[in-house]
Amino acid sequence: MTAIQFDSHGVQSFIKEHEYEELKPQLAMAQQLLFEKKGAGSDYTDWVNWASNFNQQELQKIQRLAKKVQNQSKVLVVIGIGGSYLGAKMALDFMKSPWYNDLVEDGTKIYFAGNNLSAMALQQLLQVIGDQDFSVNVISKSGQTTEAALAFRFFKQALEERYGRDGAVDRIIATTDKEKGTLREEADTAGYETLVVPDGIGGRFSVLTAVGLLPMAVAEIDIEAVLAGAEKGEENYCSTDLSKNAALQYAASRRILYDKGYTTEILASWEPSLQYFAEWWKQLMGESEGKNLKGIYPSSANYSTDLHSFGQYIQEGRRDLFETVVRVDQVASDIDVPKTPENADGLAYLEGKTLDQVNQTAADGVAIAHVDGGVPNLVVRIAKQDEETLGELIYFFEMSVAISGYLFGINPFNQPGVEAYKTAMFALLEKPGYESESQIYKNRLKNI
Ligand code: PA5
Repeated sequence: MTAIQFDSHGVQSFIKEHEYEELKPQLAMAQQLLFEKKGAGSDYTDWVNWASNFNQQELQKIQRLAKKVQNQSKVLVVIGIGGSYLGAKMALDFMKSPWYNDLVEDGTKIYFAGNNLSAMALQQLLQVIGDQDFSVNVISKSGQTTEAALAFRFFKQALEERYGRDGAVDRIIATTDKEKGTLREEADTAGYETLVVPDGIGGRFSVLTAVGLLPMAVAEIDIEAVLAGAEKGEENYCSTDLSKNAALQYAASRRILYDKGYTTEILASWEPSLQYFAEWWKQLMGESEGKNLKGIYPSSANYSTDLHSFGQYIQEGRRDLFETVVRVDQVASDIDVPKTPENADGLAYLEGKTLDQVNQTAADGVAIAHVDGGVPNLVVRIAKQDEETLGELIYFFEMSVAISGYLFGINPFNQPGVEAYKTAMFALLEKPGYESESQIYKNRLKNI
């Protein structure tokens, strides 16, 4: 059984059956590179069998530390950026709610920091925490990402002011490399509790490691069930038979569309709780594929909201877009459209329906309108938003992008382009080691 139904009816007028047939040898090659660890970046492919080999001691440690945070604190501040942030935020919204912090009663609220350098955001978050007891989970695989490290410095100071030096140490969990990096050195010297980001898994593939699992466990998400879902993903999305492997079908559809000039993909959903799923997906796709002047540009849309913002562009703008809609069949709780005797708002025709039926019908209507407007439409359909489905969905997209990256002939597991901004920023900030570049960048700033 798969938790995901991949539906490509909405691309039938854009892709012919023989085009899938013709791609089969390349798909087989891409799978071989991945499964035999012969492709570029193969040192970072441990996510492929991660869930089925999950270390039980690590699982128990994550659960123990989550309990400790829950017992100690009303607030957990999760500090990290990119792959050290988006997975946990996406899972929290998907499984709980974008309003989790407002709805949680006896549990621990979770706020995210270190994903920007905004002075205002940082001070506002400190204000929000106020006098509530708090703990910090600082996450950085490299252990030296400026945004996360700087935010950690502020929160460490706040912890020390509140709880003293030893009390602060007792409220910090560092998730980082097992032996290298500035954060690892600091954690070992100071005596923080630590969790490990495995060597063989890159940041954007790390949501099913301690990186994503600790914050999830603090929010009472059943992490064993999430891992069980990912294990289902291993069973369902490694098949070499295109007709049986939805992740392969998705990768193939995207590639064929790209070759026809559809170079932007919109990941759309009709549930606000999936907005951050799209943010996680954008990093996964963009950072994996966007190399050597190739790759599909990952964009996202939240419906209905965006139908009234850039919906006009999707319907009638440049025809280089395609859409992948994540649809949820059963919402956790539905609600009847209220009946009124006077029909002042003209909505009597919706009486007898539930709100979700209206939402699903709107989704059907938009799919027809977009296909008619020349936007190929793929659907990733899930029955419900539960832990198993989340794990399988994560695996589905990770597998697809790995195959897709090898189809593009690039290394899907590195991110060399992320360094460019850092070099310029460090030179302008006069970081030691960047002395020779400093003046060059300062002069260039005058011409920008
Ligand atoms: O996918 C990646 O590797 C990156 O996006 C990283 O997750 C991001 O740059 C954060 O890096 P780090 O965890 O080393 O602080």
